[in-house]
Amino acid sequence: TSQELTSQNLTGQKILVTAGGTIEPLDPVRYIGNRSTGRMGYAIAEEAARRGAEVVLVSGPTVLEDPAGVRVIRIETARQMREAVLAEFPTASAVIKSAAVADYRPAAVAEQKIKKSEDDLTLHLVRNPDILYELGQKKEHQVLVGFAAETCKVEEYARKKLAKKNLDFIVANDVSEADAGFGVETNRIKLIDRSGRMTPYPLMSKKELAGIILDHVAEVLEK
Ligand code: CTP
Ligand code: CA
Repeated sequence: TSQELTSQNLTGQKILVTAGGTIEPLDPVRYIGNRSTGRMGYAIAEEAARRGAEVVLVSGPTVLEDPAGVRVIRIETARQMREAVLAEFPTASAVIKSAAVADYRPAAVAEQKIKKSEDDLTLHLVRNPDILYELGQKKEHQVLVGFAAETCKVEEYARKKLAKKNLDFIVANDVSEADAGFGVETNRIKLIDRSGRMTPYPLMSKKELAGIILDHVAEVLEK
């Protein structure tokens, strides 16, 4: 049946998923982080495994349990995520980068806990590598999927990222909406593909959206 076809349509494919937020240490007890919970990426990893794919999930710190049948690599920083992703990339058929990667990290990590003083404290941050941009440069057979979490001009920014990072498609979401994006079970997305076609979707559970995103991945893989 067609349902059996969808449920196994990723057999033989290796899907690399990144999820959660990276954290960037400041001293032994503090870090800079973001509000990503990892739910979107974990839902994608779980559904891809259910559809028969070999799944590797590179995850930032999260309270979520390892999805069934998925190889999970836990990392903390953007640079650790980059190492793990680059090692798995050559053998991957598709990469889905749902992680919220820190764009900056503290220039230096203090060896001892930073003590407060009467003065203000200024942090010096330096740029982290853009992992997805690097994958876009290295890309051969791999299908590349990015996410764009925006608080305004969602479609415009997402289209720019799609082009700049050489993606097959991008999942755009407006994180300024209370029911979509970081920290909630639901999301409202727009998919934009290489040809420029934009498809909006209504508010859905992250599980349902995982299915939609993987349907598109399967479609591109077939081409
Ligand atoms: N990304 C990445 N490495 C980074 C930053 C982002 O791989 N250092 C990936 C994210 O996983 C996501 C996509 O790039 O799939 C877009 O991330 P986003 O933060 O929306 O875009 P940026 O290019 O970082 O631009 P900005 O934060 O300025 O909007
Ligand atoms: Ca960013």
